[in-house]
Amino acid sequence: ASAYVAREIANLIIHKQKEGKHCVLGLATGSTPKTMYAELVKIHKLEGLSFKNVITFNLDEYYPIEPEALQSYNRFMQVHLFSQVDIDPANTHVPDGTINKDDIRVYAASYEKEIEDAGGIDLQILGIGLNGHIGFNEPGSSRHSVTRMVALDNSTRLANAYEVPNMSQVPRLAITTGINTILRAKRVVLLAWGMHKAHIIRRAVEGHVSEVVPASILQEHEICT
Ligand code: GLP
Repeated sequence: ASAYVAREIANLIIHKQKEGKHCVLGLATGSTPKTMYAELVKIHKLEGLSFKNVITFNLDEYYPIEPEALQSYNRFMQVHLFSQVDIDPANTHVPDGTINKDDIRVYAASYEKEIEDAGGIDLQILGIGLNGHIGFNEPGSSRHSVTRMVALDNSTRLANAYEVPNMSQVPRLAITTGINTILRAKRVVLLAWGMHKAHIIRRAVEGHVSEVVPASILQEHEICT
C-alpha cells in the first residue's frame, strides 16, 4: 500500500512537471507514513524523480517544541523525506512549534493563506489516531475548523509516547491544520495499518458522519481513499 500511494504521488509530481506547475502535497507524520516516504525516496534515488516542483504543507506540530527535538514533526520530515530528496527547503512547510503564544492566531492564519496562495493542496496524506483524529483534530473538532492551536487528548499523548522515556515529555498542545483545511484538499488518501486500527477505520468508513470521529467526516470528501 505504501508503494501504491508513493507511486500515485510520483505520477502526480511528474504530471504537474509536464504542465510546468507546482505539485502541492499535504503531508502527515506518525509511524504510519514512514514506509510511504521510504518508497518515495527510493523512486527519487532509483528513477530520478525530482521534487523541484513540489511544495509541501504538513498537518501538524507539537507545541511548544524545538525543531531538533526528538518528537518534533519538523525533525521527522527532515529525517524521513526532506533531507533525502532534492526538494527546495523554502518549499517545505511544517507548523512552527517555537512561535510565541501571542502570535499563534496570526501565524495560523498565515499558514492557511500560504496553502491558498500555493493553489491549494493537490493531494493530502493522512494517518489516523486510535480515537479517530486526523492531523491533531481530536474528537469534537468542528468540521469548519482551520489551522489553530489545540489541546491533545491524553489518549493521543499516551499513544505517541513510545519514542520518549515517559508521557510527561509529550507536549500537551499542538498546532494543527483543521478539518476544513483537510476537506479542501483536491484528493485525500488516509493510511492505516494493522489490527489495532481496524476498529476506528470501521467507525470512520462505515459509521455515522460525526465530529465525535473526525475521520468519519472524510466520507463527505469526493475523492478520498
Ligand atoms: C499523530 C499525528 C497524526 C497521526 C497519528 C497516528 O497523532 N498527529 O497525524 O495520524 O499520530 O500515528 P501513527 O501513524 O503512529 O499511528
